[in-house]
Amino acid sequence: MDKEKLTAAAVAARAQAYAPYSKYSVGAAVLAEDGRLFTGSNIENASYGLTICAERTAVFTAVSAGVRAIVAVTVATEDGGSPCGACRQVLSEFRPRNGSEMAVYLTDRGGNIVRETTLSELLPLAFDLEATTTPDAVP
Ligand code: THU
Repeated sequence: MDKEKLTAAAVAARAQAYAPYSKYSVGAAVLAEDGRLFTGSNIENASYGLTICAERTAVFTAVSAGVRAIVAVTVATEDGGSPCGACRQVLSEFRPRNGSEMAVYLTDRGGNIVRETTLSELLPLAFDLEATTTPDAVP
């Protein structure tokens, strides 16, 4: 799976966004460790706080299909916007557990990759329940 394919999927998912309030459409595509690809878009609500971001829609779709590790994610917005903090933490839950990074590609509406980064760059010192409860992790 190349990042161009992931990016095209995110741009296509963005077209399905339901964003009548903010008018800020977002699409996301996640690549599972087993090679499967899942997409999602943001879905807003008249009760604004019930809105879900595109990244979480994509992650939850993947996880409900059995995925437990995501190796790459592309987020497509108008301008190359970056995932919110809540989505970073949700992505972190499904990071590869073999020590490899989760690649993050940020694209604009044309699918141009504006920035390539990693989840650990976006979310350093991520919350990890095991790490906080393991005595060895206490400094
Ligand atoms: N949004 C996302 O879909 N992903 C993010 O990471 C940030 C924000 C959505 C939520 C809302 O529908 C719109 O963008 C404006 O905040």
